[in-house]
Amino acid sequence: MKEKEILLDQIANSLSLDEIEQTRLDIFGKKGVLSAQFATLAKLPADEKKSFAASVNETRDILQNAFDTKYASLKSDALDIQLKSEAIDLSLYENIATRGALHPVNETMNKIIEYFVSLDFSVEKGPMVEDDFHNFEALNLPKHHPARDMQDTFYFGDGSLLRTHTSPVQIRKMLSAKPPIRMIAPGAVFRRDYDITHTPMFHQVEGLVVQGKGEVSFANLKSIMSEFLGYMFGDIEVRFRPSFFPFTEPSAEVDISCIFCKGDGCRVCSHTGWLEVLGCGIVDSNVFKAVEYENVSGYAFGLGVERFAMLLHKIPDLRSLFDGDIRLLEQFR
Ligand code: DAH
Repeated sequence: MKEKEILLDQIANSLSLDEIEQTRLDIFGKKGVLSAQFATLAKLPADEKKSFAASVNETRDILQNAFDTKYASLKSDALDIQLKSEAIDLSLYENIATRGALHPVNETMNKIIEYFVSLDFSVEKGPMVEDDFHNFEALNLPKHHPARDMQDTFYFGDGSLLRTHTSPVQIRKMLSAKPPIRMIAPGAVFRRDYDITHTPMFHQVEGLVVQGKGEVSFANLKSIMSEFLGYMFGDIEVRFRPSFFPFTEPSAEVDISCIFCKGDGCRVCSHTGWLEVLGCGIVDSNVFKAVEYENVSGYAFGLGVERFAMLLHKIPDLRSLFDGDIRLLEQFR
């Protein structure tokens, strides 16, 4: 069959599945070349039939082979193209979905809580809207006591107030439980204050330990505060300064050696070499009287979480913690 070479060329030159389908119809279809050949075969005299049939069959096999090979290759090319076009680029959104981070106040709070929980302290909560008794009176801050001036209070019309410290949670705990007590109370507190180191809302962690009479000493308090500050700030020195709080007697303020200048003196520590970080003391007997506890001894402490966060992260303006500016938060990822 003289057309054989032409047909093989046509197969070889079919460049798409559409083209190879047309070639298939041209060769193997009902109206194709091979059908025509077999029609011719039927009309031939008997003696010519055999050799003609053999030649057509051979040509058909050759064409079929070439077709199958070409078809398989075009099919696989088409699949490749389809897979490429349907592939999902998983890297596309990588830079759009950014990672979040804990707010430095929460992160610092968590670190403080973890420390005391590991020492078997319970974590207590109290209301942010307090009454005069829990926030002041029971803490040995009677009405008209000058120490109340230390705290500028937000009052509601009915005499309730936004708690000015987390110390009222001590009172609530002692009124609802029997000693021994080992608790901390983390939470938001409120004061009418606004400048570079004060915001009207900030966070404190209060601590209270109460045991039998004579079982708790200032030495216990000193040791746990020193260990705690070492855990928070690393290699620092700690010093206790006599101070006054109405709810503790004796009271102390606790300083750490300045973590910025290592005690040499710098702007952050006002060139003293020391940073004040918390208040503490032996629970005043008047506080135990207010909650009707007898034959007990205890110590308490209180600290400002923002102050810790500012020192740990070298944040110069406390107000920036609450501006909600994403550029500040992005630095803590
Ligand atoms: N309540 C105090 C304040 O708001 C902090 C504090 C100091 C709490 C000494 C205490 C303490 O329990 O013993 O500044």
